[in-house]
Amino acid sequence: MTKAHFGLVGLGVMGENLVLNAERNGFSSVVYNRTYSKTEAFLNGRGAGKNISGAIDLRDFVAQLERPRRILMMVKAGTATDAVINQISPFLEEGDLLIDGGNSLFSDTERRVADLESKSFGYIGMGVSGGAKGALEGPSMMPGGTKVSYQAIESLLTKMAAQVEDGPCVTYIGPGGSGHFVKTVHNGIEYGIEQILAEGYDLMKRVCGMTCDEISTVFENWNKTEELSSYLVEITEICLRTKDPEDGSDLVEKIMDKAGQKGTGLWTVVSALQLGASVPTIYASLNGRVMSSMKQQRELAETILGKPNVKTTDLGSLSDGMAPIMDAVVLSTIASYAQGMEILRLASLEYNYNLNMTSIAQIWKGGCIIRSTLLNRIQDAYHQNPELPNLLIDPWFASQIQQRLAGLTKVVSIAAQSGIPVPCFSSTLDYINSYRTSRLPQNLVQAMRDCFGSHTYERIDKSGSFHTEWVD
Ligand code: 6PG
Repeated sequence: MTKAHFGLVGLGVMGENLVLNAERNGFSSVVYNRTYSKTEAFLNGRGAGKNISGAIDLRDFVAQLERPRRILMMVKAGTATDAVINQISPFLEEGDLLIDGGNSLFSDTERRVADLESKSFGYIGMGVSGGAKGALEGPSMMPGGTKVSYQAIESLLTKMAAQVEDGPCVTYIGPGGSGHFVKTVHNGIEYGIEQILAEGYDLMKRVCGMTCDEISTVFENWNKTEELSSYLVEITEICLRTKDPEDGSDLVEKIMDKAGQKGTGLWTVVSALQLGASVPTIYASLNGRVMSSMKQQRELAETILGKPNVKTTDLGSLSDGMAPIMDAVVLSTIASYAQGMEILRLASLEYNYNLNMTSIAQIWKGGCIIRSTLLNRIQDAYHQNPELPNLLIDPWFASQIQQRLAGLTKVVSIAAQSGIPVPCFSSTLDYINSYRTSRLPQNLVQAMRDCFGSHTYERIDKSGSFHTEWVD
């Protein structure tokens, strides 16, 4: 019997779509799912008539694969991934390769790579982005592990990935857990942009009194601009235009204002704090979700503290694309990417990932959730200067800040006067203002620390470490 090129464990939506993608690209496949009925349903349904077979158990699954085996696991991150690795390992042989395509915590991947590679198996931790549609039609993929292991699946991934004008949206990211680390940061940026777009919508609705259809038109127009053309802006337009089939009203207004999360945004912020990266816009988006989930408390607080008194104010018009709000959205989106890239820069140094920022920007240009035309500029910025400390000081991004800072400032100030929370916009404004201030007030913080705890301080007029007996 001819053996299959590729194996998949886990027939969730992502798994199904990825195996269909692999098969479409000429890789005969075998699938395994913990419950065999699911495998049968897939083989009789979407998998019917394709070069895909099913396996009843893991021994049978492994036996159906050509060597070295290439096995993609699409199972829940955490203990379920460890369980599959433990169950399948006894059947593997030297050189066989396991690929984890879930949203795993990068430190788990670090451990698994070390463990599996020490047993002469290959292990790749691979971020996969693009949702169900991307998985089927071409995702962006972020594989990390040893270069040798990556080479064993390079031809497969290159064909499966989304294609953009300068190549497929997949590249070797780096060693260990770097692939999952980069995917985690991708998600942190995703959280940021989602919250930024939600803040823009809220202001247009509450400060400008616009309808969902009008706001949707603004997003449609923004999506035609170089600065904002992106997948998330595109789907925001769709979300705002969609009606509730039950009564024809705006569906988005019927949705409970509580945003959940599966962990990657939190991991991004935790990693940033551990690495000493400043990520206020991304953190604000995470906190926005946390605050949104405190629905009952917010309802109570509204009755005690009183609702903010929103004043209808001019914040641009449809014809100028709501210019100040667009300024706020553009700069906050730039800040979200800049902060994500800053985490990657520091992680690359700390964990020796040797990340290539230009390549990462390139593979995010297609297939993934944060794909946008702005990534061309990000790619250019790192191409010009691979050591760029922060995107904000690249000439093109700096000129965006100069042009749009007044708009962002106006938006934050009007939102504050109206009592409307704009956590990402206001954090971005503070981020930019802090970053462009060469002398911040932390001299006083240092004085206090030395005053109560003899923590010492440096001086600007002479070198060394100083302590003062502060007089109380
Ligand atoms: C993607 C997405 C996806 C991710 C969720 C984040 O790139 O396709 O990032 O992988 O898991 O969108 O989910 P939460 O918002 O639920 O944390």
